[in-house]
Amino acid sequence: MKKTALIFGVTGQDGAYLSKFLLKKRYKVYGVKRRSSIINTQRIDDIYKDINYKSNFKIFYGDLTDASSILNLIKNVKPNEIYNLAAQSHVKVSFEVPEYSAEVNGLGTLRILEAIRSLNLEKKIKFYQAGTSEMFGRTKGKFQNEKTPFHPVSPYGVSKCFAHWITKNYREAYGIFACNGILFNHESPIRGETFVTKKIIQALVKIKKGNQKKLFLGNLYSKRDWGHAKDYVEAMWKMLQQNKPNDYVIGTGKTFTIKDFVNRAAKKIGFKLEWIGKGINEKGVNTENKKVIVECRKRYFRPLEVDYLKGNASKAKKLLNWYPKMTIDDLIEEMVVYEEENNNDKY
Ligand code: NAP
Ligand code: GDD
Repeated sequence: MKKTALIFGVTGQDGAYLSKFLLKKRYKVYGVKRRSSIINTQRIDDIYKDINYKSNFKIFYGDLTDASSILNLIKNVKPNEIYNLAAQSHVKVSFEVPEYSAEVNGLGTLRILEAIRSLNLEKKIKFYQAGTSEMFGRTKGKFQNEKTPFHPVSPYGVSKCFAHWITKNYREAYGIFACNGILFNHESPIRGETFVTKKIIQALVKIKKGNQKKLFLGNLYSKRDWGHAKDYVEAMWKMLQQNKPNDYVIGTGKTFTIKDFVNRAAKKIGFKLEWIGKGINEKGVNTENKKVIVECRKRYFRPLEVDYLKGNASKAKKLLNWYPKMTIDDLIEEMVVYEEENNNDKY
């Protein structure tokens, strides 16, 4: 019998990669999308279009703020596995919509767990919660692993800590097979356009094509551990295939500043950058024509910042046999090629 997976957040970056991964593993995949005023299935249109009665991929409306939709979906689908990838996932935006971020990311997770419990499906459904390295926040030490204490510094990070602990709580209290993935930043060509990697590559490609003049950024000196989303959805699935539920850190173990990322992306696209100035006045100059193409703007800084992230995924390597396959330069290469081929928009 085919396994069935229910994915909350199917229209997002990870939802799209996970759907395709599970379809290849011959799952029936049911995705949950929220209502929006324009069609927002671009990332899954290639599998969604093929809609017929035999399709292994179906989409339903639902929303993490609506307990009844969650309960009905789980009751009707009775999936073997649930992946909760739905979230207000933008850290900076969470400072502007803190209550909504907590509602969706924190209480939304509780609503799914409570639906599983109230339908008496505790022993039938395995549950994955999309946790994040943002939970570490103000962290000390050279790297973060499962034993590193949480000290979140954004409403997003705080809301994800609630989701983490409530997932653990339902595992311990009711015996639900529930896993927390603590994933470090992961990117891809279909990354949301307001996350820094996509924003940098999209802008530099447009500048190269003459369709944009400048890239405006915030903090150039925070450090991130960036992997590829394709590798990370495999880790989610592996967590649910174990004999026992557990929590795992997933990262590459390498860390780079935003400025490093800009330099590497610029090189790939064919720019040589020289940096001048300091602080908010720091600028990236295209050495070929002496034009400033990167500037900093206050509005892209956050009230508090996570300065340093570097994941130690030894536990996942040992227990899940999970290893990241793609390096930062593989990731940049794939994102640049995609942007060069697909983006001809004028600024
Ligand atoms: P994403 O691209 O922003 O996707 C988020 C998904 O959640 C989208 O499908 C979005 O729908 C959906 N969603 C938002 N609010 C919802 C609501 N109220 N009800 C139902 N669905 C809702 O995020 P991602 O990068 O794929 O990340 C997936 C998950 O992993 C998120 O929970 C994120 O917080 C977490 N995470 C991500 C990373 C990373 O680096 N990517 C690292 C650690 C953890 P729309 O398409 O309609 O907006
Ligand atoms: N978005 C953005 N835009 N970030 C900028 C900019 C800018 O113009 N300029 C500098 N940055 C810096 C941010 O201050 C942050 O330090 C870093 O770039 C990365 O920002 P994002 O790409 O927005 O990602 P994030 O690290 O805040 O959060 C992502 O990773 C988390 C895992 O650690 C998101 O995917 C979260 O959902 C995820 O949990």
